[in-house]
Amino acid sequence: MLTRDAQAISDGVVSLREISRSDAELLYAWRMDPGSRMMFRCTEVVPFDFHRSMIEQYLTTASPDRWFLAEADGRPVGTLSLYNFTERGRVCEWGRFVIAPEARCLGYGRRALKLLMSYARTSGVHRLKCEVLATNTVALHLYRDLGFTQTGRHEHDGRCFLAMMADLDACI
Ligand SMILES: CC(C)(COP(=O)(O)OP(=O)(O)OC[C@H]1O[C@@H](n2cnc3c(N)ncnc32)[C@H](O)[C@@H]1OP(=O)(O)O)[C@@H](O)C(=O)NCCC(=O)NCCS
Repeated sequence: MLTRDAQAISDGVVSLREISRSDAELLYAWRMDPGSRMMFRCTEVVPFDFHRSMIEQYLTTASPDRWFLAEADGRPVGTLSLYNFTERGRVCEWGRFVIAPEARCLGYGRRALKLLMSYARTSGVHRLKCEVLATNTVALHLYRDLGFTQTGRHEHDGRCFLAMMADLDACI
C-alpha cells in the first residue's frame, strides 16, 4: 500500500510533491480554466469553498490516495493524482490531470505522467485505470503512447468517454 511519505519523485526536470493547503487557489484556477474544465466529466464551475473542502478532506483522511503537484525548476506547472485503490492496492485510478495553460506543450505532462506511473509501480500498483473524453486528442495521444489501451467506452451527459488501462508490469 502507498504511504504519504516525503520522497523525491523527480526526473531532474519535473518533480512531484504532495499538494498542500496553500496550493488550493492554483489548483482551482487550473481545474476551472475552460480549456481544462470541458475535458472532465464535471464541466461545472464549482464554488471555491467546495474545492477547498475536497483538499481539506484529502489532507485529513487516512487513505492510500495521492494528490500531487508537479513542479518544473521549482515552479508549479500542474497536478495529477492516484485514487480508488482496489485489489489490495494492486489496481487504482489516476486523474485530476491538468498542466497549467501557460506551461502546456513543453513536455511537462508527459514527464509528470511517466513519474506517476513509475511511482505507482514501485508502490505496488500493477494496473492503472483512467477515463478520457473521446475528443481529447492530446490526452489520448499521450496516454496511448505511454502504454494505455482502451478497455471500454460509455456516455455521460451525452458525451463519450473512453475507459483506459495500463499494465505497469509491461510498460515501465
Ligand atoms: C493533456 C495535458 C495534461 C497535456 O499536458 P502537456 O504538458 O501540454 O503535454 P506535453 O507537452 O507533455 O505533450 C504530450 C504530447 O501531446 C502533444 N501535444 C501537446 N499539446 C498539444 C496540442 N495542443 N496539439 C497537439 N498535440 C499536442 C505533444 O506533442 C506531445 O506529444 P509528443 O511527445 O509525441 O510530441 C494538457 O494539455 C492539459 O492540461 N489539458 C487540459 C486538461 C486535460 O485535458 N486533462 C486530461 C483529462 S483526461
